[in-house]
This record gives sequence, structure tokens and C-alpha cells, in this order.
Amino acid sequence: MLTKGEFAIDIRDDGVEVWITQMGDFMNMNTAFIDREAKIAVIIDPFDSNLWISELKKIGLEPTHLLYTHTHRDHTWGYSEMINNFPEILILGHEEAKVPDLLDNTLFNNQLFNKIDFTTTWNNPPDSMIEWNAGKINLKITHSPGHAPGHLTFHGHGVYHAGDLLFTAHSGRVDLPGSDPNAQINSLKFANDLLNSLPSDWRLVPGHRYEWIDGTTPDWVTIKDVLEQNYSLKDVRRGNF
Ligand SMILES: [Fe+2]
Repeated sequence: MLTKGEFAIDIRDDGVEVWITQMGDFMNMNTAFIDREAKIAVIIDPFDSNLWISELKKIGLEPTHLLYTHTHRDHTWGYSEMINNFPEILILGHEEAKVPDLLDNTLFNNQLFNKIDFTTTWNNPPDSMIEWNAGKINLKITHSPGHAPGHLTFHGHGVYHAGDLLFTAHSGRVDLPGSDPNAQINSLKFANDLLNSLPSDWRLVPGHRYEWIDGTTPDWVTIKDVLEQNYSLKDVRRGNF
């Protein structure tokens, strides 16, 4: 299990580096894809931007792209720090994650969504996939709404970053403003088929490090294990929704 401030680094055969860390009181998982030669560092949902910036500085890089799974406050925690440091940084997400009508919503007296000024948005329909490249980095991006509008998952280079669609043992909650339980079922069905098509030893990185079926809290599980054990994916396959 990653300790606070620790980064797990996997250097792939294609040269792309996958950095994974866990940050903050909500146990948010962050994944980055790095192409050192091209000086590209793509970070998904950075939580503690100062830590990301200082860690990348050690290898002479700066964050170049932020990818957002969705715009809940805990996933966009590091946004202002990042744009204060790098005003030109590219910020990508789904058009529907802008949620202008939901920005005033609160949860436990805190703002639920953050306003993100995306530099690029995708607008593909739910349960469809698009491809995105930066240098050697090649990701497939799936629109998976339900937990939040415009929710995306990202996969490539041995990792499926699930955001709050899927945790290791469960799926994301659908009782929040902007949630859509029916869309979530379709997104889980699509994810089940997609995960089945990926190499079984790839890692599923959840949006949060929550409990696995045996009471441990691993940072990730393999695609094989999540397909076999995740309660929501099992329910989807049994037609329990
Ligand atoms: Fe969320």
C-alpha cells in the first residue's frame, strides 16, 4: 500500500511511465502518464498539485495536461494550485462535466462541484470510446456517466483509471445531485465488457482507495480480480439491476 507522498512508477516497454499515488483525506487515487523524451506529463485528477509539481521537477518536467474524470470537488482539489503555477496547462474533460446548473450545489455544507475552465472538451455520447494521444501516450477515453455528469474513464499503458465509476470492490454512489442511476447501470455494463477485452494483468486504479473484499485497502487490483470479485460488476452480469 502506498504511503503518503509515495509514487509507484511503472516503466512500460513503449517507454511511457505510469505514476500512481494516493492523496488526501478522501484517499483519492491519482495516475499520471509521462513521456520523458517529449517532456509530456499527463495527470488524472491531481489532488495535491504542489506535490505533483515538486515530484516532476526532480526529473526536469512540468505538468503539461490535466485529465478530469469528473468535476466533483475532491477530484478537482488541485485545480487552482495547478493553474496558478501553470496558466498555460491544457485541461481536458467531457463537455457535460461543466455542469453550470449544479455548481451551487453543496454536500455537507461544502461545494459539490468545481468550475473547471477546460481548454478542450470531448462530447462523445455515453458508453462510447474515443482515442487521445500526446507524444507516445495513447489513451482510450470512455464516457461513463451515472455517478456524475460527463464522467470519464481512461485506459492505456497497463492501467484502467476508473474514477468514481468503479472502486476495487464496489461502484460509485448515484445519490448525489447530478447522479443518474440508470446511466450508471449502462456505464457499468459497458465497463464490464471493456474490462473483459483488456489484458487480465492490467491494473484497475479506482478513484478512491476503499476496502477490497478481504478488508485490505490495495491501491489497485488486477482486471482479472476486479472482474471476478467486484460486487457491482457481478450484479451487472447477473442482471440484478
Ligand atoms: Fe465523485
